[in-house]
Parts: sequence; structure tokens; C-alpha cells
Amino acid sequence: MQGYNVAVVGATGVVGTEMIKVLEETKFPVAKLLPLASERSAGSRIEYNGENVKVELLTEESFKGIHIALFSAGSSVSEKYAPIAAASGAVVIDNTSFFRMDPNVPLVVPEVNAHDVRKHQGIIANPNCSTAQMVLPLLPIHEHFKIKRVVVSTYQATSGAGKEAMDEMLNQTISIVNGNGPTKPKKFTKQIAFNVIPHIDSFLENGFTKEEMKMTNETKKIFGDDSIEVVANCVRVPAFIGHSEALNIETEKPFDIEKVRELIAGVPNVRVMDDVATNTYPTPADCVETNDTLVGRIRRDFSVPNGIALFCVSNNLRKGAAFNAVQIAFELVNQELI
Ligand SMILES: NC(=O)c1ccc[n+]([C@@H]2O[C@H](COP(=O)([O-])OP(=O)(O)OC[C@H]3O[C@@H](n4cnc5c(N)ncnc54)[C@H](OP(=O)(O)O)[C@@H]3O)[C@@H](O)[C@H]2O)c1
Repeated sequence: MQGYNVAVVGATGVVGTEMIKVLEETKFPVAKLLPLASERSAGSRIEYNGENVKVELLTEESFKGIHIALFSAGSSVSEKYAPIAAASGAVVIDNTSFFRMDPNVPLVVPEVNAHDVRKHQGIIANPNCSTAQMVLPLLPIHEHFKIKRVVVSTYQATSGAGKEAMDEMLNQTISIVNGNGPTKPKKFTKQIAFNVIPHIDSFLENGFTKEEMKMTNETKKIFGDDSIEVVANCVRVPAFIGHSEALNIETEKPFDIEKVRELIAGVPNVRVMDDVATNTYPTPADCVETNDTLVGRIRRDFSVPNGIALFCVSNNLRKGAAFNAVQIAFELVNQELI
């Protein structure tokens, strides 16, 4: 076979745009690319491999002859169209939260559980952006020292809420800088420019947000281990791209902190940036052009017998969405599942 017919649902969004870039950069064997969107952008053009490709309207007929369908157009679109795409013979890789906790849908971060891809029944879920980056430094710590509990505080960029959210931050910043005060929040509940908001996704009865509970539940599913306790505090900050996370990890077994640093550096697609003598640690500005998850400030957390503290940063549109999705597509090819 020369390649695969790939549909990108939500091709004009921030994640969809990045997906098309990552397909190109990773040289995924695409025979035909089909960008799909709503009537708002159907008929517009996108660039792919130097070609100008027309964006088509998403319909129930869109998936005929499609091998892989990458979805990032929101949960309600996935709810309706992912089963239609799967029934048409495509394997769906879904970026929304809709199918993530469905027991019949594998939730995959390839560095951790690539083997779960083969359990798919037509749909594979991509995790929440904050979870995808967090499980990378956790992987060797859990393998070697068994994690008991993780406390994570996030500092999440506005692109995590889509294109309109980024525009809201930009326009609000310009308005304030021009002396006109903040524009009225629409995508966010409060002013985001020059501010931080401790509220991502909706609140649940237990007082946590959905975003926070995604980090707890998805981590257990990806590791296939319900014993890992994760408690999250998710906060939106006025960065455009790149989620940051401060982690405090408690392990069952004792460890040598230098060994922990070495193990994290050995995880594929992770780069350790950790030398406080030279102010070397990651910030969101460092992750914009990379698929790597950047880890620094690795140190012993003295507040518990076996504790590790670290700071990790990743491009939420890449490892948190598009890159992870394309990695899953490569697994389908490499494991000869397609
Ligand atoms: N941003 C992130 O970091 C991130 C990470 C992981 C997962 N996700 C998930 O990915 C999804 C998209 O996020 P985003 O940030 O890319 O949002 P976005 O920038 O707002 O883009 C939304 C995309 O979906 C399309 N769309 C919306 N309604 C549609 C419909 N009824 N039929 C067909 N296409 C439709 C839009 O097309 P039009 O141009 O036609 O409106 C656009 O291409 C969300 O479910 C989000 O939770 C986002």
C-alpha cells in the first residue's frame, strides 16, 4: 500500500491545524488528506505538503474510503460522527473527552501503553492534554519505585480552550495596554489577560473541575493501575501555548534522586532541562516548536519519606493533542493493525 487516506475532523481549529503540520513533519504515509469542518469553514483552503487542499463539509458520507480519522471538533461532533466513521471502516483517533473513559475504547499515550492500541474496536482515545504530558515523567518513576500519590498543579495555556480563547486573551491584553480596560470575558469566566483563573472545564459536585478529575481518572486508565492516587489543581494562565505542571510524587520504594533524573531523561520524547546553576529549567516559551515534554527542577520532596518534586512543560497542541494522535496512527501502521 502506498499510504493511507486520512480525514482530519476540525481541520481549521488549533488542534486540527497542528495535526496537519505533524502529519507533514513526521512524514506519515498519507495517500489522501481530507480536511473536514463545519459550514463556517467548508470551502476554505489549507496548506499540506505544499499543496492547497479544500476543506470539505463534515457529513455522514465523509468517511467512505478513509482509513484513519483524526477527530478534534468537540465532544458532540465526536459523539455523533466517530461511530459513523468507525462503521465506515476507518479507525478513529479522538481528541475529545467523549470516549476516554469508555471501557471499550483504549486511551493511549504510546510511550506508556502502545500495546493497548490493539484492543481497539474502531475508536481510540487521545488523553487530555495535561494528562498526556504528566504520564511521561511518571512512567519510569512508577516502573521502578511504584507511585502512591501525585499532587499536580497546572498552569495551562489559553490555546487549550481553542482559537477563540487565544483571541480573547490577545484582544483583552491589547485593550488593557491601550488604556481601555479589559474586554468582557466570553470563553473564560473571568479576565484572562494579566490574570490567572483556577477553573478549567465545569465544576462537579465534589468541588473539583472536570479537567482535574480527567487527570485523576485518565492516569489510572493509561497505566492500567487504579492504585495511583492523583489530585489535581488546574489553573488557566495567560500563555498562548504550553501547559506547565508542578508535580509532587510520593513513591512506595526509596530512590536515589540522581537515578530518578537519569530515568526520566531516558523516556522517549522527554528532554530534561535541569541545571539550576545556569538557570536551566523549562518554560512554556521553550516548548512551542517541539514535540518533546521538557522536565526540570527535579529534586527531593522532603515533606514525605519518599517524595519527588519536578516541573514539566509541554506543547498542549502537540504532545497534548496532535503529536500523540499521530503517534497512535503510527502504532496502527507499525503494529500492522490497519
Ligand atoms: N486545544 C487543545 O490543547 C486541545 C488538546 C486536546 C484536546 N482538545 C480537544 O480538541 C477539540 C477541538 O479543540 P480546538 O482547541 O482545536 O478547538 P477550535 O480551535 O475551536 O477548533 C474547533 C474545530 O472544530 C470544527 N467544528 C466545530 N463544530 C463543528 C461541527 N459541527 N462540524 C464540523 N466541524 C466542527 C471547527 O470548524 P469551523 O472552522 O468550521 O468552525 C474547527 O475546525 C475539543 O474537543 C478539545 O477539547 C483540545
